[in-house]
Amino acid sequence: MEDNVRFLVINGPNLNFLGKRNPAIYGAETLEQINAYIQDSFKDDEIEFFQSNHEGSIIDTIQADSEKFDGLVINPGAYAHYSYAIHDALEACPIPVIEVHLSNIYKREAFRRISVTAPACSAVISGQGKKGYLLAIEKLKDLV
Ligand code: DQA
Repeated sequence: MEDNVRFLVINGPNLNFLGKRNPAIYGAETLEQINAYIQDSFKDDEIEFFQSNHEGSIIDTIQADSEKFDGLVINPGAYAHYSYAIHDALEACPIPVIEVHLSNIYKREAFRRISVTAPACSAVISGQGKKGYLLAIEKLKDLV
């Protein structure tokens, strides 16, 4: 692994509502609490967090910020199921990307069982709750 690695964690639409949104599925913690848990778990690494409900903003961030980071973790939210535009941005991304879903998307409604963004990623972690973000960063450390 290189020295001074920097990771970017992107969360897509409705993930700013964690804590209020379907806690039985997504847990009771807010996104701020989950981000703090990630940062606390990797105290020596630089991790930046970005959340947006807008496809274009997520694409702009992937394009512009991937230059500044060594690895990307993305939970695209529902965009995972239909955003070919985010797929294409991830495919063009020069750094390793791991997709995370808090819930097990394969155990839910049919429309969630397909991820169109996953083929542009090195790996997908689904159904591990907030720990999925830690597993993703651990794996990125092997790849950078
Ligand atoms: C999610 C799963 C998606 O189907 C859903 O639209 C989300 C959250 C997850 O983290 O489990 O917004 O990505």
